[in-house]
Amino acid sequence: MALKDFNGAVAVVTGGASGIGLATARALYAKGAHIVLADINGQGLQQSVEQVRQQVPGATTKVLGVTTDVTNESQVQALMQRALDAGGRIDLVVTSAGIGRGGPIDLFSAEEMRAMMNINFMGTFNCVRAALPAMRQQQRGHFVFLSSVAGKLGSPLLTGYTASKWAVRGFSMALRAELYGTGISVTTVYPSWVETPMIHQEKDAMQYLNIVAMLTPDQVASEILQAVQEDKRDLTLAPNQDIALVLEIMKSDPDKAEMLVGEDFHQRLQHLIGQQIQ
Ligand SMILES: NC(=O)c1ccc[n+]([C@@H]2O[C@H](COP(=O)([O-])OP(=O)(O)OC[C@H]3O[C@@H](n4cnc5c(N)ncnc54)[C@H](O)[C@@H]3O)[C@@H](O)[C@H]2O)c1
Repeated sequence: MALKDFNGAVAVVTGGASGIGLATARALYAKGAHIVLADINGQGLQQSVEQVRQQVPGATTKVLGVTTDVTNESQVQALMQRALDAGGRIDLVVTSAGIGRGGPIDLFSAEEMRAMMNINFMGTFNCVRAALPAMRQQQRGHFVFLSSVAGKLGSPLLTGYTASKWAVRGFSMALRAELYGTGISVTTVYPSWVETPMIHQEKDAMQYLNIVAMLTPDQVASEILQAVQEDKRDLTLAPNQDIALVLEIMKSDPDKAEMLVGEDFHQRLQHLIGQQIQ
């Protein structure tokens, strides 16, 4: 059953101190939802709670900030309990907490890979395990998982990120099938580059990754709200022509798509190496 009206709904948003999570929380609050923001960055979280509150002066709906590491199962359980204590139900869980490090596989350590899988994938899993009992009791609820176009393609220099986002995608598909007929829905979001602090973390890698951000967090947030209301399973947002083309080819000929991505990366690398030698 689609969540058509956000007015009075209780929404938990992880990664709520920044970027897409914060923008989604603001959009939901503007539509009358109670918001429980979660993030590992406690200081950023408090500022975000204020930001969300201030945009609708006089609103009577609640905004809470709960400092949470999504990789920590008991902290995520406590987060969902706080939402239940405050609002009596959990209508929507948006899992936007994530990290986006990249680099050549030769230099990518097992520790970095574990962090990637723990935050991007296990964080999502932990939220589902913790919120599902309440949603089952309510016989309704909606999860929104932030994957990425990297969850549909193989992205050079983003092997760990890609693996974690494919994991989110596979998990969503299996979960949706398992929850069929329960009234609980899952929307998986696959954006290309979005203008948030995440894409500025690795200045050196920017030129190799060819990052062109054509989406804003507010645009993604507005698309997310619409996708929830329409009970969409797949929300792919790829305004970048090159990415959109490869995604299209991927549907009918994944081998060709993989080869094109590899060729393009190889050519770009040769060009950059040539420039550095001159
Ligand atoms: N920015 C993009 O180009 C882009 C594209 C596609 C998908 N995404 C995905 O969207 C989601 C949000 O990304 P964003 O661009 O808004 O990034 P962001 O860096 O602006 O926000 C991510 C938030 O997650 C929080 N976080 C990190 N580790 C955490 C943990 N262990 N527990 C709790 N919170 C934690 C950070 O503190 C930060 O506030 C991520 O899953 C990201 O992979 C981003």
